[in-house]
Amino acid sequence: MLLAFELSGEHSTIPRSEVLASLESLEVDFHIHISLDGCLIIELENNASEIVRILAKRLAMTHHIIEVLGIGGPEENEIFDMVTNAKIDLDSTYSVRVKRVRDYSKIDTALLERLIGGIFFKRGFHADLKYPKKQFRLLLTENKSIFGILAGSIDRSAFETRKPHYKPFFYPGVLMPKVALALVNIAKPGKNLLDPFCGTGGILVEGGLIGFHMIGGDMQRKLLLGAKTNLDHYDVDYSLMYQDACRIALLDNCVDAVVTDPPYGRSAAVKAESMEHLLAGSLKEIFRVLKRGKRAVFISERPIEEFAHKAGFKTVEFHSQRVHKSLTRRISVLEKP
Ligand SMILES: C[S@@+](CC[C@H](N)C(=O)[O-])C[C@H]1O[C@@H](n2cnc3c(N)ncnc32)[C@H](O)[C@@H]1O
Repeated sequence: MLLAFELSGEHSTIPRSEVLASLESLEVDFHIHISLDGCLIIELENNASEIVRILAKRLAMTHHIIEVLGIGGPEENEIFDMVTNAKIDLDSTYSVRVKRVRDYSKIDTALLERLIGGIFFKRGFHADLKYPKKQFRLLLTENKSIFGILAGSIDRSAFETRKPHYKPFFYPGVLMPKVALALVNIAKPGKNLLDPFCGTGGILVEGGLIGFHMIGGDMQRKLLLGAKTNLDHYDVDYSLMYQDACRIALLDNCVDAVVTDPPYGRSAAVKAESMEHLLAGSLKEIFRVLKRGKRAVFISERPIEEFAHKAGFKTVEFHSQRVHKSLTRRISVLEKP
């Protein structure tokens, strides 16, 4: 079966990586069918409905998951042929939505919705635009049209309510919840996840809400207390420690994943002799506590490859996120061999 993930346009590489890492951590048998701008199509062997149900609750940077019924060309006649030939068994009401990714197509999407509705009408199917039982979606991107039935949607409004300034404890300079959750998924947690620079607990809240045991550490007591307030508010499973990220009070090889956003040497306090000491020392400790074959997602403003490789890590992915004119976050996905 083919599943299309309608990716968010908020970032060019993170949404795709999040989907792939999530499928890998669910140990799903899959391969990539096509990877297009704004849409990743994968072929699945297993029970797709259970996987869709889990991913719809877990992903941050996907809008919808579609069960693919046809893939066609970008022209109107090619789309009609594709939809006309798609195998559709419909015993309930339906609606049709057409979505254009960026400006890949010039076709009038509202007109296309009506024309596709016309094909279904001729087959005796009943439309219901307000409360349809089945929703068809057509995506127009990169010289392709992808047609299918909506299998799952991500409730992205929940992220708005968890924006840092709506939380019980707020402190500036934190990640947005959507980014934090996408990075948690990219880290592929097993049972637990560590953030040794946890601050107000933004990463811990997101990972905790999807069911992982979250472990946080920080060297500012007021922020740890703030993290506790936030974590209690969202009722997640956590442990917090007042500790130096360069001397983590955990055994070797005991953590399933790490996602962390250390200070950049700007506004957030740096509790170390220097930034170099902090980066080198924390990466060495993260390497020690992480289990073999597991991932650490490490955010920085400056390159950290040298420190990471010295600690023993290999870099498996890299993402760059522009925050504003003078700050671009470097997101390194590291693996302990
Ligand atoms: C960019 S902030 C983290 C923001 C966090 N992601 C949040 O949601 O609030 C960096 C944090 O690192 C902490 N920190 C600085 N030096 C540290 C050290 N040596 N060990 C542990 N934490 C440290 C700071 O107190 C600060 O809370």
